[in-house]
Amino acid sequence: MKKTALKLAAPSLLNVADITDTIVKGDCISVMQSIPDNSIDLIFADPPYNMQLGGDLHRPDNSHVDAVTDHWDQFENLEAYDRFTRAWLFEARRILKKDGAIWVIGSYHNIFRVGCAMQDAGFWINNDIIWRKANPMPNFRGTRFTNAHETLIWASKSKDSRPTFHYEFLKEQNDGVQMRSDDWFIPICSGDERLKGDDEGKIHSTQKPEELLKRVILSSSRNGDVILDPFFGSGTTGAVARKLGRHFIGIEREDTYINAAKARIKLVAPEVGPDGFVPFAAKREKPRVSLLQVIEAGILKAGETVTDKMGRFEATICADGLLMMGDGEHKSIHKLGAEVMEAPSMNGWSFWHVERGGRRIVLDDFRETARKKLFADTKGQRSMLLPIKGRGKN
Ligand SMILES: C[S@@+](CC[C@H](N)C(=O)[O-])C[C@H]1O[C@@H](n2cnc3c(N)ncnc32)[C@H](O)[C@@H]1O
Repeated sequence: MKKTALKLAAPSLLNVADITDTIVKGDCISVMQSIPDNSIDLIFADPPYNMQLGGDLHRPDNSHVDAVTDHWDQFENLEAYDRFTRAWLFEARRILKKDGAIWVIGSYHNIFRVGCAMQDAGFWINNDIIWRKANPMPNFRGTRFTNAHETLIWASKSKDSRPTFHYEFLKEQNDGVQMRSDDWFIPICSGDERLKGDDEGKIHSTQKPEELLKRVILSSSRNGDVILDPFFGSGTTGAVARKLGRHFIGIEREDTYINAAKARIKLVAPEVGPDGFVPFAAKREKPRVSLLQVIEAGILKAGETVTDKMGRFEATICADGLLMMGDGEHKSIHKLGAEVMEAPSMNGWSFWHVERGGRRIVLDDFRETARKKLFADTKGQRSMLLPIKGRGKN
Protein backbone atom coordinates (compact mmCIF):
# COMPACT_ATOMS: atom_id res chain seq x y z
CA MET A 1 0.00 0.00 0.00
CA LYS A 2 1.25 3.41 -0.88
CA LYS A 3 2.18 5.44 2.15
CA THR A 4 0.81 8.91 2.27
CA ALA A 5 2.70 11.54 4.20
CA LEU A 6 0.75 12.80 7.14
CA LYS A 7 0.61 16.54 6.89
CA LEU A 8 0.32 18.21 10.28
CA ALA A 9 -1.45 21.50 10.41
CA ALA A 10 1.08 24.17 11.34
CA PRO A 11 0.09 25.81 14.60
CA SER A 12 -0.88 29.42 14.10
CA LEU A 13 1.94 31.63 15.26
CA LEU A 14 1.71 34.06 18.10
CA ASN A 15 3.08 37.54 17.79
CA VAL A 16 5.85 37.89 20.39
CA ALA A 17 4.92 41.50 21.09
CA ASP A 18 1.38 40.37 21.97
CA ILE A 19 2.55 37.95 24.66
CA THR A 20 5.42 40.03 26.02
CA ASP A 21 5.06 40.77 29.73
CA THR A 22 2.26 38.22 30.08
CA ILE A 23 1.89 34.69 31.39
CA VAL A 24 0.61 32.23 28.82
CA LYS A 25 -1.31 29.38 30.34
CA GLY A 26 -0.57 25.97 28.90
CA ASP A 27 1.93 23.26 28.26
CA CYS A 28 5.27 24.87 27.48
CA ILE A 29 5.97 22.62 24.51
CA SER A 30 2.71 23.51 22.74
CA VAL A 31 2.99 27.17 23.63
CA MET A 32 6.57 27.40 22.38
CA GLN A 33 5.47 25.65 19.17
CA SER A 34 3.37 28.70 18.45
CA ILE A 35 6.23 31.17 18.95
CA PRO A 36 8.13 32.13 15.78
CA ASP A 37 11.73 31.03 15.11
CA ASN A 38 14.58 33.32 16.22
CA SER A 39 12.43 35.66 18.30
CA ILE A 40 13.61 35.42 21.93
CA ASP A 41 16.78 36.91 23.47
CA LEU A 42 17.18 34.73 26.54
CA ILE A 43 15.49 31.72 28.14
CA PHE A 44 15.61 30.83 31.82
CA ALA A 45 14.22 27.37 32.54
CA ASP A 46 13.68 25.72 35.91
CA PRO A 47 12.13 22.44 34.72
CA PRO A 48 10.69 19.67 36.87
CA TYR A 49 13.47 17.91 38.81
CA ASN A 50 11.93 14.46 38.49
CA MET A 51 12.95 13.79 42.08
CA GLN A 52 11.18 10.45 42.26
CA LEU A 53 10.96 10.69 46.02
CA GLY A 54 8.45 7.87 46.16
CA GLY A 55 6.66 8.94 49.32
CA ASP A 56 6.85 11.50 52.06
CA LEU A 57 10.09 12.40 53.80
CA HIS A 58 10.20 12.65 57.58
CA ARG A 59 12.70 14.01 60.07
CA PRO A 60 13.92 11.77 62.92
CA ASP A 61 11.15 13.20 65.16
CA ASN A 62 8.65 12.17 62.50
CA SER A 63 7.77 15.73 61.48
CA HIS A 64 7.11 16.12 57.78
CA VAL A 65 9.83 17.49 55.46
CA ASP A 66 8.64 20.05 52.94
CA ALA A 67 10.07 18.33 49.86
CA VAL A 68 9.14 18.54 46.19
CA THR A 69 6.36 16.01 45.86
CA ASP A 70 4.15 18.03 43.51
CA HIS A 71 2.35 16.23 40.73
CA TRP A 72 4.12 18.39 38.13
CA ASP A 73 7.38 16.75 39.18
CA GLN A 74 6.18 13.20 38.50
CA PHE A 75 7.19 11.28 35.37
CA GLU A 76 6.53 7.65 34.62
CA ASN A 77 10.21 6.82 34.24
CA LEU A 78 13.50 8.31 33.11
CA GLU A 79 12.68 7.71 29.45
CA ALA A 80 9.51 9.77 29.79
CA TYR A 81 11.47 12.53 31.47
CA ASP A 82 14.07 12.47 28.71
CA ARG A 83 11.42 12.62 25.98
CA PHE A 84 9.84 15.61 27.68
CA THR A 85 13.23 17.31 28.17
CA ARG A 86 14.26 16.84 24.56
CA ALA A 87 10.92 18.12 23.26
CA TRP A 88 10.96 21.36 25.24
CA LEU A 89 14.65 21.97 24.56
CA PHE A 90 14.07 21.56 20.83
CA GLU A 91 11.41 24.28 20.86
CA ALA A 92 13.44 26.48 23.18
CA ARG A 93 16.41 26.40 20.82
CA ARG A 94 14.28 27.07 17.76
CA ILE A 95 12.71 30.21 19.21
CA LEU A 96 16.02 31.71 20.42
CA LYS A 97 17.62 34.39 18.30
CA LYS A 98 20.92 33.50 16.61
CA ASP A 99 22.95 35.00 19.45
CA GLY A 100 20.44 33.97 22.09
CA ALA A 101 21.23 31.89 25.14
CA ILE A 102 19.54 29.66 27.66
CA TRP A 103 19.99 29.00 31.37
CA VAL A 104 18.70 25.75 32.82
CA ILE A 105 18.79 25.08 36.53
CA GLY A 106 18.59 21.65 38.11
CA SER A 107 19.80 19.35 40.84
CA TYR A 108 21.67 16.04 40.71
CA HIS A 109 18.32 14.38 40.02
CA ASN A 110 18.00 15.84 36.53
CA ILE A 111 20.83 18.16 35.51
CA PHE A 112 23.06 15.49 33.96
CA ARG A 113 20.26 14.22 31.73
CA VAL A 114 19.30 17.80 30.85
CA GLY A 115 22.92 18.71 30.04
CA CYS A 116 23.27 15.75 27.69
CA ALA A 117 19.99 16.60 25.98
CA MET A 118 21.13 20.20 25.56
CA GLN A 119 24.30 19.19 23.79
CA ASP A 120 22.40 16.72 21.62
CA ALA A 121 19.96 19.48 20.68
CA GLY A 122 22.81 21.65 19.39
CA PHE A 123 23.25 24.07 22.29
CA TRP A 124 26.81 25.14 23.02
CA ILE A 125 27.55 25.04 26.75
CA ASN A 126 29.36 28.16 27.96
CA ASN A 127 29.54 27.38 31.67
CA ASP A 128 28.00 25.40 34.46
CA ILE A 129 27.49 27.52 37.53
CA ILE A 130 27.23 26.26 41.07
CA TRP A 131 24.58 27.93 43.20
CA ARG A 132 25.82 27.20 46.72
CA LYS A 133 22.92 27.43 49.13
CA ALA A 134 23.82 29.44 52.18
CA ASN A 135 21.14 27.65 54.19
CA PRO A 136 20.53 24.17 52.72
CA MET A 137 18.19 21.62 54.23
CA PRO A 138 20.21 19.14 56.35
CA ASN A 139 20.39 15.48 55.38
CA PHE A 140 18.00 14.28 58.07
CA ARG A 141 18.80 10.60 57.78
CA GLY A 142 22.53 11.19 57.98
CA THR A 143 23.12 8.80 55.10
CA ARG A 144 24.53 11.24 52.55
CA PHE A 145 26.31 14.57 52.20
CA THR A 146 24.08 17.59 52.77
CA ASN A 147 22.80 18.45 49.33
CA ALA A 148 23.82 22.10 49.33
CA HIS A 149 23.89 23.25 45.72
CA GLU A 150 22.10 23.34 42.41
CA THR A 151 23.71 23.61 39.00
CA LEU A 152 22.89 26.12 36.31
CA ILE A 153 23.92 25.43 32.74
CA TRP A 154 24.40 28.51 30.60
CA ALA A 155 24.47 27.68 26.90
CA SER A 156 24.34 29.53 23.60
CA LYS A 157 22.01 28.60 20.77
CA SER A 158 25.00 27.30 18.81
CA LYS A 159 28.78 27.27 18.73
CA ASP A 160 28.71 30.30 16.43
CA SER A 161 26.50 32.43 18.68
CA ARG A 162 27.91 35.48 20.41
CA PRO A 163 25.84 35.62 23.58
CA THR A 164 25.55 38.71 25.75
CA PHE A 165 27.98 38.55 28.66
CA HIS A 166 28.76 41.59 30.81
CA TYR A 167 32.24 40.60 31.84
CA GLU A 168 33.32 43.99 33.22
CA PHE A 169 30.19 44.46 35.26
CA LEU A 170 30.54 41.02 36.82
CA LYS A 171 34.19 41.62 37.66
CA GLU A 172 33.28 44.92 39.26
CA GLN A 173 30.63 43.18 41.35
CA ASN A 174 33.22 40.65 42.46
CA ASP A 175 35.64 43.14 44.04
CA GLY A 176 37.60 43.51 40.81
CA VAL A 177 38.24 39.78 40.44
CA GLN A 178 36.88 37.71 37.51
CA MET A 179 33.53 36.22 38.51
CA ARG A 180 33.99 32.49 38.99
CA SER A 181 31.54 29.74 38.21
CA ASP A 182 31.44 28.74 41.88
CA ASP A 183 31.04 32.18 43.43
CA TRP A 184 27.26 32.11 43.63
CA PHE A 185 26.64 31.84 47.36
CA ILE A 186 23.00 32.74 47.83
CA PRO A 187 20.41 31.72 50.45
CA ILE A 188 17.35 29.76 49.36
CA CYS A 189 14.19 31.81 49.06
CA SER A 190 12.76 32.67 52.48
CA GLY A 191 11.39 35.52 54.59
CA ASP A 192 9.29 38.22 52.95
CA GLU A 193 10.33 37.12 49.48
CA ARG A 194 8.67 33.72 49.88
CA LEU A 195 5.09 33.75 48.55
CA LYS A 196 2.70 32.35 51.16
CA GLY A 197 -0.95 31.39 51.00
CA ASP A 198 -3.70 32.25 53.49
CA ASP A 199 -2.61 29.25 55.57
CA GLU A 200 0.94 30.67 55.77
CA GLY A 201 2.13 27.69 53.71
CA LYS A 202 4.44 28.11 50.70
CA ILE A 203 2.55 28.79 47.50
CA HIS A 204 5.27 27.16 45.42
CA SER A 205 7.61 24.46 46.69
CA THR A 206 10.57 25.52 44.53
CA GLN A 207 10.38 29.31 44.36
CA LYS A 208 13.87 30.51 43.43
CA PRO A 209 15.62 33.41 45.16
CA GLU A 210 15.45 36.71 43.29
CA GLU A 211 19.18 37.25 43.77
CA LEU A 212 19.86 34.18 41.66
CA LEU A 213 17.72 35.47 38.80
CA LYS A 214 19.26 38.88 39.17
CA ARG A 215 22.69 37.40 38.46
CA VAL A 216 21.42 35.40 35.52
CA ILE A 217 19.64 38.34 33.96
CA LEU A 218 22.27 40.99 34.64
CA SER A 219 25.12 38.83 33.38
CA SER A 220 23.55 37.74 30.13
CA SER A 221 20.89 40.16 28.91
CA ARG A 222 20.50 43.80 27.98
CA ASN A 223 17.97 46.38 28.97
CA GLY A 224 14.78 45.76 26.95
CA ASP A 225 15.56 42.11 26.08
CA VAL A 226 12.77 39.54 26.09
CA ILE A 227 13.35 36.69 28.54
CA LEU A 228 11.15 33.62 28.27
CA ASP A 229 10.58 31.22 31.15
CA PRO A 230 8.76 28.01 30.09
CA PHE A 231 8.32 26.84 33.73
CA PHE A 232 7.24 30.11 35.25
CA GLY A 233 5.99 28.83 38.63
CA SER A 234 5.64 31.71 41.07
CA GLY A 235 7.03 34.14 38.48
CA THR A 236 10.50 34.85 39.87
CA THR A 237 11.88 35.40 36.36
CA GLY A 238 9.11 37.86 35.53
CA ALA A 239 9.45 39.80 38.78
CA VAL A 240 13.21 40.17 38.42
CA ALA A 241 13.05 40.90 34.69
CA ARG A 242 10.61 43.70 35.36
CA LYS A 243 12.75 45.06 38.19
CA LEU A 244 15.74 45.10 35.86
CA GLY A 245 14.06 46.74 32.86
CA ARG A 246 13.82 43.55 30.79
CA HIS A 247 10.64 42.01 29.34
CA PHE A 248 9.38 38.54 30.12
CA ILE A 249 7.15 35.84 28.70
CA GLY A 250 6.02 33.26 31.24
CA ILE A 251 4.52 29.86 30.45
CA GLU A 252 2.84 27.90 33.23
CA ARG A 253 0.13 25.28 33.48
CA GLU A 254 -1.19 25.78 36.99
CA ASP A 255 -3.73 28.50 37.77
CA THR A 256 -2.61 28.84 41.41
CA TYR A 257 0.91 29.72 40.33
CA ILE A 258 -0.24 31.95 37.49
CA ASN A 259 -2.45 33.97 39.83
CA ALA A 260 0.27 34.26 42.46
CA ALA A 261 2.83 35.31 39.84
CA LYS A 262 0.50 37.93 38.35
CA ALA A 263 -0.15 39.47 41.76
CA ARG A 264 3.56 39.40 42.55
CA ILE A 265 4.71 41.03 39.32
CA LYS A 266 2.05 43.74 39.56
CA LEU A 267 3.76 45.02 42.72
CA VAL A 268 7.22 45.22 41.15
CA ALA A 269 8.64 48.63 40.36
CA PRO A 270 11.53 48.85 37.89
CA GLU A 271 14.78 49.59 39.72
CA VAL A 272 17.36 49.63 36.99
CA GLY A 273 19.09 52.69 35.55
CA PRO A 274 19.32 53.53 31.83
CA ASP A 275 22.49 51.45 31.47
CA GLY A 276 20.59 48.36 32.61
CA PHE A 277 22.62 47.50 35.71
CA VAL A 278 22.16 47.34 39.48
CA PRO A 279 24.71 45.90 41.90
CA PHE A 280 24.35 42.40 43.28
CA ALA A 281 23.26 42.11 46.90
CA ALA A 282 24.93 38.84 47.79
CA LYS A 283 28.60 39.01 46.96
CA ARG A 284 31.29 36.44 47.60
CA GLU A 285 31.03 33.82 50.30
CA LYS A 286 29.83 35.42 53.49
CA PRO A 287 32.26 35.71 56.40
CA ARG A 288 31.71 33.16 59.15
CA VAL A 289 30.04 34.45 62.29
CA SER A 290 29.75 32.50 65.55
CA LEU A 291 27.02 32.75 68.16
CA LEU A 292 29.59 34.33 70.44
CA GLN A 293 30.12 37.10 67.88
CA VAL A 294 26.35 37.60 67.62
CA ILE A 295 26.28 38.07 71.41
CA GLU A 296 29.31 40.34 71.36
CA ALA A 297 27.71 42.44 68.63
CA GLY A 298 24.78 42.99 71.00
CA ILE A 299 22.26 41.31 68.72
CA LEU A 300 21.43 38.51 71.22
CA LYS A 301 22.05 38.39 74.95
CA ALA A 302 23.40 35.68 77.24
CA GLY A 303 20.47 34.36 79.30
CA GLU A 304 17.94 34.62 76.46
CA THR A 305 15.85 31.57 75.64
CA VAL A 306 16.02 29.73 72.33
CA THR A 307 13.41 27.24 71.17
CA ASP A 308 12.80 25.15 68.10
CA LYS A 309 10.21 26.49 65.64
CA MET A 310 7.33 24.73 67.38
CA GLY A 311 8.51 25.64 70.90
CA ARG A 312 8.91 22.02 71.98
CA PHE A 313 12.56 22.31 73.07
CA GLU A 314 14.00 25.14 75.09
CA ALA A 315 17.57 26.13 75.96
CA THR A 316 19.44 29.14 77.27
CA ILE A 317 22.11 31.16 75.49
CA CYS A 318 25.32 31.16 77.53
CA ALA A 319 27.90 33.92 77.62
CA ASP A 320 30.47 31.59 75.99
CA GLY A 321 28.39 31.34 72.80
CA LEU A 322 27.04 27.87 73.62
CA LEU A 323 23.60 26.68 74.68
CA MET A 324 22.53 25.01 77.89
CA MET A 325 19.42 22.90 78.38
CA GLY A 326 18.23 22.80 81.99
CA ASP A 327 21.31 22.31 84.15
CA GLY A 328 23.08 20.35 81.45
CA GLU A 329 26.42 20.89 79.76
CA HIS A 330 27.13 23.82 77.47
CA LYS A 331 26.81 22.62 73.87
CA SER A 332 27.01 24.20 70.42
CA ILE A 333 23.75 25.16 68.72
CA HIS A 334 24.35 22.36 66.21
CA LYS A 335 25.21 19.64 68.74
CA LEU A 336 22.27 20.41 71.00
CA GLY A 337 19.90 20.67 68.03
CA ALA A 338 21.07 17.29 66.75
CA GLU A 339 20.76 15.76 70.21
CA VAL A 340 17.19 16.86 70.87
CA MET A 341 16.14 15.78 67.40
CA GLU A 342 18.09 12.54 67.67
CA ALA A 343 19.62 13.41 64.32
CA PRO A 344 23.22 12.70 63.29
CA SER A 345 23.78 16.36 62.50
CA MET A 346 21.88 19.61 62.50
CA ASN A 347 22.23 23.18 61.32
CA GLY A 348 21.56 24.99 64.60
CA TRP A 349 21.22 28.33 62.79
CA SER A 350 18.04 27.19 61.11
CA PHE A 351 16.78 25.03 64.00
CA TRP A 352 16.81 27.42 66.96
CA HIS A 353 14.60 30.49 67.26
CA VAL A 354 14.34 33.47 69.58
CA GLU A 355 11.08 35.25 70.28
CA ARG A 356 10.73 38.87 69.26
CA GLY A 357 7.42 40.73 69.30
CA GLY A 358 5.44 37.53 69.79
CA ARG A 359 7.10 35.80 66.80
CA ARG A 360 9.76 33.12 66.75
CA ILE A 361 12.64 34.40 64.64
CA VAL A 362 15.18 31.94 63.33
CA LEU A 363 18.71 32.30 64.70
CA ASP A 364 20.10 32.71 61.20
CA ASP A 365 18.36 36.09 60.91
CA PHE A 366 20.20 37.32 64.02
CA ARG A 367 23.46 36.04 62.56
CA GLU A 368 22.78 37.96 59.35
CA THR A 369 22.18 41.16 61.32
CA ALA A 370 25.42 40.59 63.22
CA ARG A 371 27.28 39.89 59.99
CA LYS A 372 26.08 43.16 58.52
CA LYS A 373 27.14 44.99 61.65
CA LEU A 374 30.51 43.29 61.90
CA PHE A 375 31.49 43.22 58.26
CA ALA A 376 29.72 46.22 56.74
CA ASP A 377 32.34 47.17 54.20
CA THR A 378 31.46 50.20 52.14
CA LYS A 379 31.88 48.31 48.86
CA GLY A 380 29.30 45.71 49.83
CA GLN A 381 26.76 48.33 50.80
CA ARG A 382 26.66 50.28 47.55
CA SER A 383 23.22 50.94 46.25
CA MET A 384 24.08 53.36 43.49
CA LEU A 385 24.68 52.48 39.89
CA LEU A 386 28.36 52.59 39.14
CA PRO A 387 29.73 53.88 35.88
CA ILE A 388 31.86 51.06 34.54
CA LYS A 389 34.06 51.34 31.50
CA GLY A 390 33.50 48.71 28.85
CA ARG A 391 30.13 47.57 30.16
CA GLY A 392 27.90 45.77 27.77
CA LYS A 393 30.78 44.57 25.60
CA ASN A 394 29.64 41.24 24.23
C1 LIG B 1 10.66 24.00 39.31
S1 LIG B 1 9.17 24.86 39.13
C2 LIG B 1 9.65 26.50 38.66
C3 LIG B 1 9.71 27.45 39.82
C4 LIG B 1 10.01 28.87 39.41
N1 LIG B 1 11.33 29.00 38.88
C5 LIG B 1 9.83 29.82 40.59
O1 LIG B 1 10.78 30.53 40.99
O2 LIG B 1 8.73 29.85 41.13
C6 LIG B 1 8.53 24.18 37.66
C7 LIG B 1 7.18 24.75 37.24
O3 LIG B 1 6.90 24.30 35.93
C8 LIG B 1 5.52 24.02 35.81
N2 LIG B 1 5.41 23.02 34.72
C9 LIG B 1 5.75 21.72 34.78
N3 LIG B 1 5.58 21.14 33.58
C10 LIG B 1 5.13 22.10 32.75
C11 LIG B 1 4.78 22.13 31.38
N4 LIG B 1 4.85 21.04 30.61
N5 LIG B 1 4.40 23.30 30.84
C12 LIG B 1 4.29 24.42 31.59
N6 LIG B 1 4.60 24.45 32.91
C13 LIG B 1 5.03 23.31 33.47
C14 LIG B 1 5.11 23.55 37.17
O4 LIG B 1 3.71 23.77 37.38
C15 LIG B 1 6.00 24.37 38.09
O5 LIG B 1 5.35 25.52 38.52
